[in-house]
Amino acid sequence: MRYLLCTALCLAALPVHAEDARTPLTLTASEAAAVREEMRGFLEGVQAITSGLADNDMKAVAKAARGLGMSGANHVPMSLRMRLPMEFKEMGRATHMGFDTLAIDADGLGDAGHSMKQLSETLQNCNACHASFRLETKPK
Ligand code: HEC
Repeated sequence: MRYLLCTALCLAALPVHAEDARTPLTLTASEAAAVREEMRGFLEGVQAITSGLADNDMKAVAKAARGLGMSGANHVPMSLRMRLPMEFKEMGRATHMGFDTLAIDADGLGDAGHSMKQLSETLQNCNACHASFRLETKPK
């Protein structure tokens, strides 16, 4: 009884966000896997950038940031690119371009504080897109 009461209270305390307000993007399972793989690459790159910043190794920062730049964005298959909403593509593009700028400045200025500010600004694109979209898979 005490357990049941606790469960009821805990459920009542959960935020009432049952509805997911993010726009679903309906992709095939392999397209969704490709998007998620790119995402994990973003996070790995961000980790490498912060590690370089912590060591004040600006060459490592530039290298990791360049890997997340526009040159990597072209791997998205055209068939998928055609179906992504413009807003999604723009946020993706702004993210890749932010990393390119970060790479150029890390090389040219070698100023960790400046690079950290740029990283923080670029990460806002991640948050903005995550707040707006979610993936949904459709059967092939
Ligand atoms: C243009 C949109 C967009 C941008 C920009 C974006 N993401 Fe994502 N990301 C998504 C979507 C959509 C998902 C899937 C969310 C869901 O279905 O709940 C996702 C999922 C992820 C995941 C989970 C991957 C998995 O294997 O499940 C990680 C990690 C992630 N993003 C990291 C990042 C990081 C770090 C950045 C910025 C450097 C970033 N993302 C930028 C749209 C974006």
